[in-house]
Parts: sequence; structure tokens; C-alpha cells
Amino acid sequence: MTAEPPNISRPLPTSSLYERVGGEPFFIGLVERFYGRVEEDPVLRPLYPADLEPGKANLAAFLAQYWGGPARYSEARGHPRLRMRHVRFAIGTAERDAWVTNMVQAVQESGASPDDARALIDYFEGAATMLINEPR
Ligand code: HEM
Repeated sequence: MTAEPPNISRPLPTSSLYERVGGEPFFIGLVERFYGRVEEDPVLRPLYPADLEPGKANLAAFLAQYWGGPARYSEARGHPRLRMRHVRFAIGTAERDAWVTNMVQAVQESGASPDDARALIDYFEGAATMLINEPR
């Protein structure tokens, strides 16, 4: 019996984070936990509308799309243009930090692998910093 030679000419199949975490249900759960915290957050709650359900669906669809899932967000909402969509909310460092803290907790409770959790958190920290529109 000769061992199979290692295959050095064909790339290993890669998977998206969306696939690794189990697809859409992961993002729905993440956003549910995040919004549960927003509801109790004195800094963030006033920025959000009375009805939180449409925002939840938009955020979950956006994140699923961003991490390699189907483009349902763009089909429904068009180009994300996140900075433009956030200009009507005054976002300073306090709001950014509150948002990130709540989302990091939601990620830590998600069951994602340490590497995937790290990738999600790095992304959220960077994206939230980009959305600061009110220097204090
Ligand atoms: C920096 C702190 C942030 C604050 C204070 C904030 C606040 C908000 C608020 C108030 C809404 C409207 C929700 C609604 O109409 O029901 C919203 C929508 C949204 N946010 Fe944020 N957000 C922040 C950061 C982020 C980040 C980091 C992301 C993405 C990684 C994000 C993605 C979205 C998306 C996709 C929507 C829906 C946009 C749409 O289709 O209308 N936000 N955000």
C-alpha cells in the first residue's frame, strides 16, 4: 500500500463564514440577542424606532449577505451604503462603543468558533468606527 501523495496543485475547498456558522439562522439569532440588549440600552434605545422588527430583519439580511450568504439584503434594500443610511442618527464614540459592546456580547454567545468570532468582532469594530458621524 502506497500512501496518496499530498495534493499540492489543487486548492483546498474553502467555505464562507456564512456556511461555517450554519447560514441564516445564525444571523437571525445574533441579531435577536443584539436587539434584546439594544432594548435595554439607555444610550442606543432612543436612536431606534418604536418598532424594532423591520430593523432586525434588515440587519440580519445584510450580515448574512456580507458573510457570503444570498444577496437578499440588496434585493430588498439596494446598495447597502451604510454610512449614508446612518447619517440621520447622531453617532459619537459613546454610541459606537455601546453598539460594539452589545454586538460583541451577542457574538460571544453565538457558538461561533474562536476564529469566526474574532473575524466578526474585528469587522464590527471597524465598521462601527466608520459610522461615527458626530465628533465629540
Ligand atoms: C455605530 C453604532 C451604530 C448605531 C448607533 C446604529 C444605529 C442604527 C439604527 C438606529 C438603525 C435604524 C433601525 C431601524 O430603522 O429600525 C440602523 C440600521 C442599520 N444598521 Fe446600524 N447602527 C450602528 C452600527 C452599525 C454597524 C456597525 C452595522 C453593520 C456592520 C450596521 C448595520 C445596519 C443596517 C444594515 C441597518 C439597516 C439599514 C437599512 O436597510 O435601512 N449598523 N442602525
